[in-house]
Amino acid sequence: MFSKFVTRGAICKFSTSSTKCTVEAAVSKRDEYYKSLGEKTSDEKPDGWDNALPYESIPGPKPLPLVGNMFRFLPHLGEYYDVPQQDFYKIIRRKYGDIITLKGIFGRKPIVYLFNTSDMENFLRNSGSFPIRNGMESFAYYRTKMRQDVFNGVGGVLTVQGEEWFKFRSLVNPILLQPRSVEQYLGAMDTIADELVHNMRHFSEQSGKNEMPENFLNWLYRWSLESMGVIAFNRHFGLLDLNVDENSEVQKFVDSVVTMLKLMYYLEILPPIWKFIPTQPWKEYLQCMDFMTEFTFKYIEEGLSQNADDNGPDHELSILQRLAKIDKRVAVAMIMDMMIAGVDTTGRTLGAALYFLAKNPEKQERLKEEVLKNLPNKNSPVTKEIMGKNIYLKAVLKETMRLSPIALATMRTTVKDLVLGGYKVPKNSDVLSIHLPSSEEFKDPDLFMPERFFEDDDRRVFPQERPPARFYTFWIWS
Ligand code: HEM
Repeated sequence: MFSKFVTRGAICKFSTSSTKCTVEAAVSKRDEYYKSLGEKTSDEKPDGWDNALPYESIPGPKPLPLVGNMFRFLPHLGEYYDVPQQDFYKIIRRKYGDIITLKGIFGRKPIVYLFNTSDMENFLRNSGSFPIRNGMESFAYYRTKMRQDVFNGVGGVLTVQGEEWFKFRSLVNPILLQPRSVEQYLGAMDTIADELVHNMRHFSEQSGKNEMPENFLNWLYRWSLESMGVIAFNRHFGLLDLNVDENSEVQKFVDSVVTMLKLMYYLEILPPIWKFIPTQPWKEYLQCMDFMTEFTFKYIEEGLSQNADDNGPDHELSILQRLAKIDKRVAVAMIMDMMIAGVDTTGRTLGAALYFLAKNPEKQERLKEEVLKNLPNKNSPVTKEIMGKNIYLKAVLKETMRLSPIALATMRTTVKDLVLGGYKVPKNSDVLSIHLPSSEEFKDPDLFMPERFFEDDDRRVFPQERPPARFYTFWIWS
């Protein structure tokens, strides 16, 4: 089904002498530096190892001879069949406690689930400079085994591991993680946000009840894709146009991202039957991935041709141009990863924030006061300085992500022996830290209280200067 955009020829073009700097060249220059960092793994046993309980005794669903634990996830037979991910975590925590192991899933190593914050912190802090995160096997398989013709040795941050991941991040971080890069796009983001607000006002009036339509989540996805389109492709897709074609290729991209993420549950969380036979979810997944790759190629090519002059100073170039200057394969892999990781996360998180604000009018009022103070006129520009002053807005977003975390778990393979929950967890174990709101860290954990993130508020149970490790995933690492 691949079109002319995704052919072996296209990728060969990326590797011609006109490419200023290949991935390999850029990486090899830094090799010495990486080596000097050293891997922080150690063969020393951690404190408490000798007294810790054996790994084999970690509680969890007991595997049966021959069938292991697979049957628990099968239709009709299994207690966990079709149970939503969040509910599954709640059920097993209630049943087995704060540390659990799931063994006997064919094609997958046993997985340790962590629910206790200090265990999570210990585990994440010990994942080393070159973390191993095997949570996206289907994705890695697609890129490295099935579409070698397209990606040709460049995996992207979502698929590569350890030192390779570190090298890739070192190439793209100077482009993506500069405050200047955020400033560069603030104006465009502001315009797109205005379009969403305009649409919300329209829906609200149209309903006559101040309500959003049933497919509102799709509008939020359109908003996040439209925003990312500016960064990734230098382009406005026009997705927030009220008369947008529902069958357009851009809408199909939104649908593909959402479908692909849903299918990931079947491929990555449930037993990986796709590794043995091409299951229906696997076939659908491949269709989505092919479409998304084709789409990304097409718009990267167009974005670059519209801004042909890439010889100017770096600060005048777009993110797309700067990524493509390293190597176009790096640009394709990075931009695809951003689109995959950014559309659903941001759209749903904004949806959750709007929901919590609608349900808590007094919090909404406080936010409104802050916004009106910092942006007194309808057309006041959103600047870096203004963003820094929106303290309550930040607290609203943190509280939203605390109550409704879009990333339910963080996966790592341990790079050294650890003691977790009083058990020995040896090097090379797959561990998932699970993000569920809990009363161990927060008073009234189910209430929407943005104020709890202020220094003088006592609704956090953990020490004020150090948020719990599970929130590092969006405060520091993402
Ligand atoms: C509410 C919004 C978001 C949340 C809660 C979120 C959360 C996360 C989490 C938990 C991870 C895994 C970190 C880890 O394994 O340590 C992650 C990784 C990632 N996210 Fe986000 N994310 C959000 C928005 C975005 C957006 C808008 C983009 C792109 C523009 C993005 C791009 C990525 C990428 C590329 C990775 C992989 C990074 C790497 O492995 O180096 N995310 N995100």
